[in-house]
Amino acid sequence: MSQPPAVLFVCLGNICRSPLAEAAFRAAADERGIRVEVDSAGVGGWHAGEAPDPRAQHVAQENGIDIGHYRARQVVRRDFDRFDHIVALDLENLAALRQLRPQGARARLSLLMDHVPGRSGQAVADPYYGGPEGFLRTWSDVTAGADGLLARLLDPA
Ligand code: 4NP
Repeated sequence: MSQPPAVLFVCLGNICRSPLAEAAFRAAADERGIRVEVDSAGVGGWHAGEAPDPRAQHVAQENGIDIGHYRARQVVRRDFDRFDHIVALDLENLAALRQLRPQGARARLSLLMDHVPGRSGQAVADPYYGGPEGFLRTWSDVTAGADGLLARLLDPA
């Protein structure tokens, strides 16, 4: 790959799922020595400027990754030209992105779990209103999604 692929992960608030997807994808790429540009954002802006939810920070930390310096932001129109891939964490996020996407934009939209064999069409469930076990499931889903997406970027056939 001449240019590193630029990937944006998008959930609703950008404080739980998409920061974890960003962290998992960066870690998977680092592990394989692959350069990527990666960021995350929310469909909504209510948490803009905030650090990830403490429960998300905790599960990342348990997996050796510090995400305490990440800051939430809302997706903006120019993201559709900055990124090659914009990856939604659930179907509502994907629908919102389809509405926002300017015609002729560079970014390809996809659902994260569509990159995982056998999980096509599935959402990464929103863990915000549940207990800490929801964040373990989020981590498991986003690591599977990050690995699948990276494999597909390396071998697009
Ligand atoms: P996220 O989780 O979309 O995974 O960041 C949520 C965070 C905040 C809210 C909903 C979901 N909220 O309603 O404030």
